[in-house]
Amino acid sequence: MKIIPFILALLCCITAQAQQYDESKVPAYTLPDPLLTLSGQRVKNVRTWEKVRRPEVLRLFEDNIYGQMPHDFDSIRFTTLREEPRAMEGKALLKETRISVYRAGQSVSIHLTLFIPNNVPRPVPVFLLINNRGKNITDPDRKEKSPFWPAEVVIDSGYAIAAFHVSDLAPDNKDTFVNGVLQLYPGQLQAANGMKAIGAWAWGAARVMDYFEKEPLVNASKVALTGHSRGGKTSLWAAAQDQRFAICITNCSGNSGAALARRQFGERVSRINTTFPHWFNDNYKKYNDRENDLPVDQHMLIALIAPRPVYATNATKDLWADPTGTFLALKNAEKVYALYGLKSNLPSTPPATNAAVATSILGYHNREGEHDMTLFDWTHFIQFANIHFRKR
Ligand code: GCU
Repeated sequence: MKIIPFILALLCCITAQAQQYDESKVPAYTLPDPLLTLSGQRVKNVRTWEKVRRPEVLRLFEDNIYGQMPHDFDSIRFTTLREEPRAMEGKALLKETRISVYRAGQSVSIHLTLFIPNNVPRPVPVFLLINNRGKNITDPDRKEKSPFWPAEVVIDSGYAIAAFHVSDLAPDNKDTFVNGVLQLYPGQLQAANGMKAIGAWAWGAARVMDYFEKEPLVNASKVALTGHSRGGKTSLWAAAQDQRFAICITNCSGNSGAALARRQFGERVSRINTTFPHWFNDNYKKYNDRENDLPVDQHMLIALIAPRPVYATNATKDLWADPTGTFLALKNAEKVYALYGLKSNLPSTPPATNAAVATSILGYHNREGEHDMTLFDWTHFIQFANIHFRKR
């Protein structure tokens, strides 16, 4: 009878699934201390953090998870492809730009879609989305409109809004991800700590920032970088690497994003490395089923962004991305912000569903609903940016 093994397998599967989402199954763990250097020195001030510990932590993330971030290239060129001064029924200027980067005879091009509000003083602060979904989501013609990138709402709030698609940098595919940024840096493919797709996407965000610095209509010192899920893992890594991003927003980013790995709740390191072998460096595979051996955890990725504001979100039906683990990562980054005299207003336990903590330098909400980025999320990103940009 084949039915018995089938039922047993099914039961096994159901139990495994239940365990993934069972808070009582979270093992006891000790997080690495962001304020203790590798040589055992206690970090007590911003100077030691910035000169010693921060570079150390950044290197640990490069070497063990996301890969190196190459900064050299031969040249970069910005080509305006289209300009519509009265787009969105006159509310905004649409500017589409090709950002081409050249290195060692190879090149990569990023297509940037940017709307700038017409009726506010320029240069304007801007939201930049790392788009990991369909290109239609950021339709420049606005025939299609998506709550994932609610451009009209952002424009009405007095911000510019921009987006680029991850496939311009590295196709999100284990067989073809090398066709992009990695052509410029072939040595990365040989190195166990070489960058892969998420590193390439983050590299792309930095090139968009290079463009913003040359674009007089946007305020490059007020760029809020945002991404959802794999894009949210990328927004954190990009903001950790590139301190020109003024605000980082990470939406439902989960494992290897804003959620603590050591909780082993929802997605695990082994699972992400198996399903998406092209996202992280080869060294990361050593930590499959060995989260406790990691020299970092994700609270330290958030800490790398200090003193800049970080807003992390989750959704109640997205346990895969571990909402509690995300909240705890923010909480455990607080002590690095405290070095800068910044106190977060996060409560000691996760806030109620839909209760946003947007006034805090480390912001958070857990929205009712599915794994997605919605108008609810964006409304709070705007609120968060209003608070933190106006404070400056
Ligand atoms: C998968 C993956 C997650 C990722 C998500 C997404 O669910 O396991 O790690 O965040 O895809 O990008 O939507």
